[in-house]
Amino acid sequence: MDQMIQLTFIWIISFIVAIQVGETMMSPGQGHNSGATAAATSRSEAAYLREAKVVPGGSMRAASWFKPHPPYAARGEGCFIVDIDGRRIMDCANNFFSLIHGHAFPPVLAAVQEAMVKGTAFGMPTESEIMLAETLAARNPRLEQTRFCNSGTEAVLAAVKAARAITGRERIAKFEGCYHGAYDWIEVSLDPTPANWNDENGNPASIGTNAGTPESVLREVVVLPYDDPQRCAEILRREGPTLAAVILDPHASRAGAVPMSRETTAVVQEACRRDGALLIVDEVISFRLGFSGASPLFGLQPDLVTTAKIIGGGLPIGAVSGSAKLMSVFNHADGKPKVSMGGTFSGNPLSMAAGLASLANYDQAAVGRLNGLGDLLRNKVHDGFEKAGIKAHVSGLGSLFRLHLGAAKVTGYRSAYAGPETSQTLKNIHRGMLDEGILLTPNCSGALSTPMSETEVSRLADTLGAVVAKELSTRV
Ligand SMILES: Cc1ncc(COP(=O)(O)O)c(C=O)c1O
Repeated sequence: MDQMIQLTFIWIISFIVAIQVGETMMSPGQGHNSGATAAATSRSEAAYLREAKVVPGGSMRAASWFKPHPPYAARGEGCFIVDIDGRRIMDCANNFFSLIHGHAFPPVLAAVQEAMVKGTAFGMPTESEIMLAETLAARNPRLEQTRFCNSGTEAVLAAVKAARAITGRERIAKFEGCYHGAYDWIEVSLDPTPANWNDENGNPASIGTNAGTPESVLREVVVLPYDDPQRCAEILRREGPTLAAVILDPHASRAGAVPMSRETTAVVQEACRRDGALLIVDEVISFRLGFSGASPLFGLQPDLVTTAKIIGGGLPIGAVSGSAKLMSVFNHADGKPKVSMGGTFSGNPLSMAAGLASLANYDQAAVGRLNGLGDLLRNKVHDGFEKAGIKAHVSGLGSLFRLHLGAAKVTGYRSAYAGPETSQTLKNIHRGMLDEGILLTPNCSGALSTPMSETEVSRLADTLGAVVAKELSTRV
């Protein structure tokens, strides 16, 4: 009888395994991939080939795409993603740093479920938008009033419009290489190269990022060096009186994920005060660095602050905040506002609910713990690199990090700039990490999330050490 039970048990297990293997190995054209190409060797490949037929580049986002194609996500749980081929991947990219609590965080799920059954969007305000605006104000009094939108791009766009309306000036200044969203003016000099990054005076040139950028846009954007406070001061002394705003991210990922120096932030702050330009601090990513966001950590007193990503708990969001006086530029209550800002889904109750649950669980203790894990990561990686004689380092503050190859310390966009060979090596490292089951962004930056512990941080540090060592050993 015992034997019968055992045999039945083995049969059931074999049956389940067969089903799972069958699912994973299911050839393209079967199951969910009915339109897929027969040559594909995995579901993700089949999905990619299918997507490439209806989506340019086979992906909605260039920034998260890599060769031959990314795996397609099926679901997420905590700090892991399971892809459609059944692979479990530790997620250190967190949808470009927007998921502070990783995936399917139960308080966010519960809040969204509760909100969703009541209705997803109304042509009426909801109390949840008041609560999220109040939450931001309580964390940093400079965020006295807020207007929500659906992305960081929109938030920056609205802040620039506001600055122009308030000052009556058209030009803005931004830092070289820094990303603030996909919007003409703000994309200027996003990715200049050594061949074009200097103007005739040795200052950062205004370079168009997209084909067709109007010359007038380039004239309206002054570009500042991220890590040269003296030159920055000189440029601002000359251009300051013409500027509506200076926008800065004090921990810009594209500028190397290195903190902007106190000298540079002081130069900008002083120039804005002196010349009447607004200081916009873009905390779309860097808000996560502190309970009150990034500005206080850098001694900055911004006029306007843009946020997004973690304040939406994983749902689309953007926000522009500032004093009631400055934010009155959006005030429509007494007639036509100076600047219009609105959108069909602005302040939608799902994003509000997710944001509230996310921030409620990102309190002082959680911020401190996560930032501590970031320090642990950098220390562990550097210990490993030192022991192995690897010339590389990991920059970053708090839970944000980025890998740089070479012995030189990165201080900003130009020193972080990777030429073709280094770029290729970074791509290989990114790929190597994924092969080991760890997802970074394609330029080898990342962000930790609260479900992580020392266990995941050690795994990340050890794997990065091993993958970098292997990749560098193949370089001549
Ligand atoms: C600093 C910064 N500002 C603005 C944006 C644009 O945000 P979104 O992608 O939500 O439009 C990003 C996006 O990564 C960002 O990093």
